[in-house]
Amino acid sequence: MFNVVKVKDYEEASDKAFEVMKEFIKPGKVLGLATGSTPLGLYQRMVKDHKENGTSYKDIKSFNLDEYVGLPISHPESYYAFMHRNLFDHIDIMEENAHVPSGLGEDLEGQAKHYDEMIDNDPVDIQLLGIGSDGHIAFNEPGTPFDSPTHVTDLAESTIKDNCRFFDNDISKVPTQAVTQGIGTIMKAKNILLIATGANKAKAVKDMIDGPVDEACPASILQKHPNVTIIVDEAAASLL
Ligand code: F6R
Repeated sequence: MFNVVKVKDYEEASDKAFEVMKEFIKPGKVLGLATGSTPLGLYQRMVKDHKENGTSYKDIKSFNLDEYVGLPISHPESYYAFMHRNLFDHIDIMEENAHVPSGLGEDLEGQAKHYDEMIDNDPVDIQLLGIGSDGHIAFNEPGTPFDSPTHVTDLAESTIKDNCRFFDNDISKVPTQAVTQGIGTIMKAKNILLIATGANKAKAVKDMIDGPVDEACPASILQKHPNVTIIVDEAAASLL
């Protein structure tokens, strides 16, 4: 069931997302976090709230959606580094409670299985999501089975192009694989908060909300989730 909240622009979307998220920033809660441009405004508001109001993350756990394969965590574009730079280093979450899947190691599939086991032990109360221009959620590209667990995946050509901006606009520097929570994993979250802003998301938003539930648009599966809030700005809502 979708609760679609239409706002004017990115700033308003971030304000609204913070309002929703704030209800879950409480001891014992488990947050599902995302990277990309979309959550940055929300993370700034979470940091400001922590600094100004003392809201604590000491008893909160988090699980990130995904990580590139093969990038050392010291690489500025690794999602581990992204999360530390934009959120974890500025709040009081404990390092051992802030989980980001690892894209390094001998047994990535085994590690992915372990990641799902950790999530099963600490179910996510609210999962934050962005959406790709091709309708992907996390790195679940079109065609990914709806019941997929956390797994290693190839990135779609369009996603590699979209993410090129983070790698000196040099396509050869963009990793081609990632470890990602599966769609099945994401659907286990008790609540979902998806933010979509900008005209390049309009088609994906339309397909997610009004299209058939079809693996061609991974986000369309959210129609089957009982508690989804979708925050869209005017540009992303333009086809609704
Ligand atoms: C990020 C993630 C991706 C992004 C999506 C949108 O952890 O899993 O699915 O949410 O690619 O990216 P932005 O927000 O940069 O438009």
